[in-house]
Amino acid sequence: MSYNAAINIGQDFNAINPLLKELGEDVMGFLNEIQLRYPAAVSFASGRPNEQYFGLEEFADHFNRFVEEEVVAGKKERQAVIGGLGQYNRAKGVINAAVAKYLEQDEQIKANPEDILITVGTQEAVALVALTLCDREQDVIIVEDPTYVGITHFSIIAGYQLAPVQVGENGIDLDGVEKTIIRYREQGRKVKLVYVIPDYQNPTGNSMPGENRRRLLQLADQYDFYILEDNAYGEFNYDGVELLPIKAIDINKRVIYLRSFAKTLYPALRLAAIVADQQIELDGKATALSDLLAKTKGYTTVNTSTINQAVFAGLLIRENYSLKAVNREKVADLKQKRTQLLAALSEYLHPDLFPADQAITWNIPGGGFFITIHTPFHITKEDVIHCAEKYQVIFTPMSFFYLGEGGDKELRLAFSNVSAEQIKTGISRLAAFLQFKLQAAH
Ligand SMILES: Cc1ncc(COP(=O)(O)O)c(C=O)c1O
Repeated sequence: MSYNAAINIGQDFNAINPLLKELGEDVMGFLNEIQLRYPAAVSFASGRPNEQYFGLEEFADHFNRFVEEEVVAGKKERQAVIGGLGQYNRAKGVINAAVAKYLEQDEQIKANPEDILITVGTQEAVALVALTLCDREQDVIIVEDPTYVGITHFSIIAGYQLAPVQVGENGIDLDGVEKTIIRYREQGRKVKLVYVIPDYQNPTGNSMPGENRRRLLQLADQYDFYILEDNAYGEFNYDGVELLPIKAIDINKRVIYLRSFAKTLYPALRLAAIVADQQIELDGKATALSDLLAKTKGYTTVNTSTINQAVFAGLLIRENYSLKAVNREKVADLKQKRTQLLAALSEYLHPDLFPADQAITWNIPGGGFFITIHTPFHITKEDVIHCAEKYQVIFTPMSFFYLGEGGDKELRLAFSNVSAEQIKTGISRLAAFLQFKLQAAH
């Protein structure tokens, strides 16, 4: 009734969610288009995992192994198990015990299976946490700046308040976190979540040292917020310095842990896990956060594909709940790529080739898929097109990942899906482009 009345009186309505406009241009779409337009260009743009290691042909074997295990463990008929997998199912997931075993073995995180949710990737996990915990008016989510667009872009279109805090060689600026919290407190607002990617951050490739992880936990106690820890790259460690996830040292249950399996296995599996072992005070009663998240999930994606969950658990069963052996070759390959990339950068962007006050520098990521290049030049979108067309190499301007101003003199290179040959050619081309920028600046 009111719906019709509103149309009849000729009010102006937004044709779409107005917040969608806040996203501005679709920068990732722009990069995809550039890659399609210049197929001969070497692309360091996207952090896609290498398809060679997907092992997708084993999909059915893993599924069947999971079914067999369920038949034996549950003393059920095979048909009943298979039928159950085809049904609507628990919002929290059906492989939580297997994932708990994996988390304990590979990541030293002890989690009760009931505190775990199996989600449709980290993307859904981020949405569920915000939808469950955050008030759009009062609450603020601190994010690293620059950061993964999955969190920032979701928050923008869903109307959540974000506060950027600079991320550097040692992860998020902890003094900046504290100052931001105090600033919002003075305005009567609450920082409820601090989203961090402590391991081989996307986009910078930087990691948070152990000492900073502990201080962030202390801040969470002091200022009463949750750390939203996103781990998508933890196992891609190349220097043997393995830091425990913050969740593994989270005595006071301050961390909501997001574990993506998109890079660990393959993105099409669309699987991630949330570990949420917190209790929330609701109307004087303690309620498990995992139950509230499950309630939200019931009205967003209902449940995560049980078929994909079964495949993942089938692999975990075969591997005795550790993915280290499955990923050994892949990690060694990526480590080699990082080494080749660093060697090519040292060769083609050597300090002797650029004036001392115009030097090109880069970080040395201890793992992951990304590296940051610092240049003395402003790098625009037009530069990306020019570089792809004339120099046949594609990179991502770091500014694409900033919420605030920044990154206009930095590039992100992803080395996860390029060959040794492409790395050498690509970096020599990038060097030629940067020499062009140098000449143009004079
Ligand atoms: C920081 C970070 N988190 C999560 C993901 C993966 O998300 P999903 O599990 O939704 O594929 C990525 C992929 O690029 C990422 O960089």
